[in-house]
Amino acid sequence: MTLNQDQLKQQVAEAAVEYIGQFFSTDAVIGVGTGSTADRFIDALAEHKDKFKGAVASSERTAKRLEEHGIKVFDLNEIDTMPVYVDGADEVNPKLQMIKGGGGALTREKIVASVAERFVCIVDDSKWVERLGSFNIPVEVIHMASNAVANRLESLGASEVIERADFITDNGHPILDAAGFQLEDAADLECLINQIPGVVTCGLFAVVPASVVLMASQDGVKTITV
Ligand code: 5RP
Repeated sequence: MTLNQDQLKQQVAEAAVEYIGQFFSTDAVIGVGTGSTADRFIDALAEHKDKFKGAVASSERTAKRLEEHGIKVFDLNEIDTMPVYVDGADEVNPKLQMIKGGGGALTREKIVASVAERFVCIVDDSKWVERLGSFNIPVEVIHMASNAVANRLESLGASEVIERADFITDNGHPILDAAGFQLEDAADLECLINQIPGVVTCGLFAVVPASVVLMASQDGVKTITV
């Protein structure tokens, strides 16, 4: 039987809960990402909600889903450390560098991930790429700077930059989607984009890649590290 993408997302979500079981303790707060794969992870995590203290959410959407399951949601400012952050990605390469932000939660995702001791990236195999860049790079910007940032992104190599229609992040900002970068060095480009005045965050997660990728395919869920 061939599994469709939703079934693969479900499979990797369940594998992620099993994988992070090693970090469960009554003191542990889990960092939780955003997106359809993360939603399935939350649903599976809820079955173990008595084994950990609570969660930090990377978006309002995730906070709501966690709370609906009766999982306590902590403000990041209440937390000093988390053993693990679990989230999906739009693309991931063999160095475990990612493009994220298809769902627009990139800034809070990067913040919450940065506080966690490890990042467990959960994807189906359609997200695996040898080289990042087919997926447009999302860039959250301060509104007044969007035209200036778009021009700078083009001067850095983007072939086209489009402001995401009818979308404002949880932080109140628009997102630019930058297409056509030839990504030779994703970490270098992440730094260059982050230095443009007016950029809040870019969706390259390359300077700090995932610690481990769990990837679902027709052959099961693979655990990938470098
Ligand atoms: C949201 C993200 C998501 O992790 C990414 O878009 C993948 O989403 P999905 O699990 O729905 O395929 O970065 O900002």
